[in-house]
Amino acid sequence: MSNLRKILPGLLALIFVSAGCRIDMHVQPYYRPLSKSDFYADSRSARLPVEGTVARGDLREDAYSYTGKIGANPGDYMPFPVTEQVLARGHERFNIYCTPCHGRVGDGQGFIPSRGFRRPPSYHIDRLRKVPIGYFFDVMTNGFGVMPDYSAQVPPRDRWAIAAYIRALQLSQNATAADLPAGQKVPAEAPEYRDIGTGATLPVVKPKAAETAGENKEEPK
Ligand code: HEC
Repeated sequence: MSNLRKILPGLLALIFVSAGCRIDMHVQPYYRPLSKSDFYADSRSARLPVEGTVARGDLREDAYSYTGKIGANPGDYMPFPVTEQVLARGHERFNIYCTPCHGRVGDGQGFIPSRGFRRPPSYHIDRLRKVPIGYFFDVMTNGFGVMPDYSAQVPPRDRWAIAAYIRALQLSQNATAADLPAGQKVPAEAPEYRDIGTGATLPVVKPKAAETAGENKEEPK
């Protein structure tokens, strides 16, 4: 036992030292970032990816989904079905990225133009009502005139969702009675409030006459 005590420190030291000496593949030739290389003809140690390299998940087989174009022209269909969720997403993204200039209804009355930036055209002009939906995708992807592109901030699927939402905005400002469910008035009747709320509390809408009539009948019981 005392023998072991004597040799233990030495044994431990030996283990540490020999572990420290393992080199295997720990030490390899390498270039410091951007240092010169004598091996390659162009002297660059930082090599470009082989031509045609595609990052994982970035194949983009369906070109239309990423350009909004068929050949040189914008296409007029959505690359995926427009569901309520897609429109809700488009609504949200539009309000974040586009309303500062284009305004909430897309009339171009955003805040930034009020401070001197060029005022964008309203989405409700004839020309923009008639453009194919892929055109909106393209404007977001590549920018337009003084408008910068939003390809870095808004991923492709969200750009499509915004384009679909712009179509909904256009309909909202140019609907006819035929576009509405039966019985709906244009403009819709303004709601009457029982309590307009204080800002800290929500407004309470007065029930419609027909509904109150029902309520009253039941009250005496
Ligand atoms: C910083 C302000 C700004 C923001 C934010 C902005 N735009 Fe614009 N947009 C403009 C201006 C300015 C123009 C007009 C550019 C011109 O004519 O040079 C324009 C033009 C457009 C047009 C019309 C192009 C045409 O043919 O006339 C569309 C469509 C459009 N923007 C969509 C969007 C969408 C969608 C977003 C949100 C992702 C967005 N914009 C965000 C400023 C902005």
